[in-house]
Amino acid sequence: MSLVSRLKENWLQPFFFFGNNPITLIGSGLTTASAITLVFYWAMEMIGHRFANPYLGIIFFLILPALFIAGLLLVPIGMGLRRRALLRAGQIPAVYPTIHLGDPLFRHGVLVVVAATCVNLIIVGTASYQGVTYMDSPHFCGQACHVMYPQWTAYQASPHSHVDCVECHVGSGMKSYVQAKVNGTKQLIEVTFQDYPRPIRAPLNVLRPARETCEECHSPTRFTGEKLLVKTTFGDDVSNSVTRTVLVLHLGGVDSLSHRTGIHGHHLNNFEYVATDADAQTIIAVTATNPDGTRTQYVDSTWKGPIKGVTRTMDCIDCHNQATHVFQTAEDAIDEAMVDGTPSPSLPFVHKEGLQLIQATYTSQAEAGQKITAGLDDFYRTQYPQIWQSQRPVVDAAAKRLVAMYDRNVFPSMKVTWGTYPNNIGHMAYPGCFRCHDGNHVSKGGKTLSNDCSLCHNLLAVDETHPQILNDLSLQNELHLQ
Ligand code: HEC
Ligand code: HEC
Ligand code: HEC
Ligand code: HEC
Ligand code: HEC
Repeated sequence: MSLVSRLKENWLQPFFFFGNNPITLIGSGLTTASAITLVFYWAMEMIGHRFANPYLGIIFFLILPALFIAGLLLVPIGMGLRRRALLRAGQIPAVYPTIHLGDPLFRHGVLVVVAATCVNLIIVGTASYQGVTYMDSPHFCGQACHVMYPQWTAYQASPHSHVDCVECHVGSGMKSYVQAKVNGTKQLIEVTFQDYPRPIRAPLNVLRPARETCEECHSPTRFTGEKLLVKTTFGDDVSNSVTRTVLVLHLGGVDSLSHRTGIHGHHLNNFEYVATDADAQTIIAVTATNPDGTRTQYVDSTWKGPIKGVTRTMDCIDCHNQATHVFQTAEDAIDEAMVDGTPSPSLPFVHKEGLQLIQATYTSQAEAGQKITAGLDDFYRTQYPQIWQSQRPVVDAAAKRLVAMYDRNVFPSMKVTWGTYPNNIGHMAYPGCFRCHDGNHVSKGGKTLSNDCSLCHNLLAVDETHPQILNDLSLQNELHLQ
């Protein structure tokens, strides 16, 4: 007997004989159909169709493979059951029936596979095609998944409100795409089982490198030169007195002669740092690569432990961690709103009262809404009845704006409050630049990472009521108050 016919008689024929049962047929249908769908999906990707949404991962990384394996398991189970039944009834034939294309048994099998594949393709195909457009949209990422609500809220108010979440969170290239899928699937499971961290954090190391995200749109070498900043703040006194700080930031960059200058220019050298926490708020060492290739390590002289922890190469996100999810400090929120005119600086003590109201602890945004509104109303009704009588709409508008500030930044259900998410630009409310430039980071050679006030900016005026420089520059919109 030839090898082929032996194979046919001893294996293939018994296989088809025992395989002729509903369980095995369903199993092979499932397996083949999910395999074909998966192959179709991969083929779509090969020709360049990019299903960028991580949540599709749940279909393609969990459901289809699960069906594939379940189907594979059903095949031997069905065969075994049929064999046992036939054995009991003494109906196992001495010679298994031969198979050929005309065989109804064989045809049944093929039909089931074809039918299941069509149904699968139509259902999964249509669903994913329709789903893709929707699921790729920030609305899906930010809203369908309620745990993202704080980030979604901050996103809408940001300069990137028209950049899709996936542009920054998925990155380009196959590797980041697959990673995002696996992550997305993991997150979906966490959300389903209510087993996710509150507040949600994205340790910098799990984010895509800026090269694959920010730098797709912004050139790191763009020369920006100097940038003027004017900060207007209000006091806690009865007249909410205005003061202004004016500074020029030495943003720099790489100029046409390839000189690297200023804040942007000096951090393009792939500095590596070591932090003791995932949010990189405590940086104990940073290593700079000098133009001649040598390396200088600056170590925090107040740190006595070993130099180990989370290591990372510095990029845009180490400073611009809030490029999109800008969570304000309570002070910034109210100052910004008052520059805008509401709460009106004409209301006595509105800065002090407003700040206290939005900084108090509430159990939900709904409770905050009621108590902030009632609190401000009470204050003017009892302390300034005349104003309360004559300027009700101004008081009401102030209360409404305070509630909006709260809802924009504080999310009790997600344990997000003022200051939960540090902002690394600057050094006033959070350590920011001073995580390294605090004057304590010293090299072996005795060189200190400077914290000289003029290193990063020129302070043209600090907390002045009417800085002369603003008049000189004629910055009209900075001067409309008092
Ligand atoms: C311009 C780039 C960019 C876009 C667009 C963007 N993100 Fe982010 N996202 C970031 C960066 C950078 C961080 C890291 C912040 C940090 O670690 O402090 C982050 C962090 C997060 C976090 C973790 C929480 C945190 O603040 O650390 C969540 C959740 C998140 N983003 C969701 C979203 C959602 C949902 C969208 C779309 C509605 C979105 N992101 C759009 C850049 C972006
Ligand atoms: C898809 C393109 C795109 C990506 C990706 C992107 N940005 Fe932007 N970014 C923009 C555009 C467009 C603006 C200008 C918005 C405007 O002027 O209102 C902008 C503005 C900014 C600004 C100025 C904000 C301001 O207040 O004026 C900063 C800073 C910034 N981006 C940093 C980043 C960082 C950091 C990343 C990566 C985490 C990033 N961007 C990713 C397109 C992008
Ligand atoms: C060492 C910290 C640091 C790093 C690293 C950094 N930036 Fe900045 N960047 C700043 C500061 C500070 C400002 C000014 C902030 C402000 O306007 O309040 C700024 C401003 C900007 C602006 C707005 C410029 C304007 O004209 O208003 C853009 C866009 C920007 N950065 C993009 C990037 C990109 C892209 C990268 C990565 C290649 C990057 N930055 C890396 C600190 C940094
Ligand atoms: C992870 C540590 C780290 C952080 C955070 C950091 N820097 Fe730096 N910075 C360095 C190192 C290292 C150097 C280079 C020192 C050298 O040349 O040896 C440097 C250099 C500079 C220089 C140039 C100094 C010079 O000699 O002219 C400026 C300006 C600067 N940083 C501004 C900033 C600003 C602004 C921020 C915050 C937005 C910031 N840095 C955050 C590590 C850091
Ligand atoms: C390593 C760089 C760096 C050094 C050193 C530095 N600053 Fe700053 N500073 C910044 C940056 C960046 C901002 C802008 C933050 C922003 O965009 O809101 C800032 C903002 C400020 C502001 C206005 C911020 C506000 O919210 O009112 C003041 C005031 C200030 N710095 C004072 C100082 C003083 C005083 C020193 C010296 C002890 C100093 N800075 C040293 C980087 C630096």
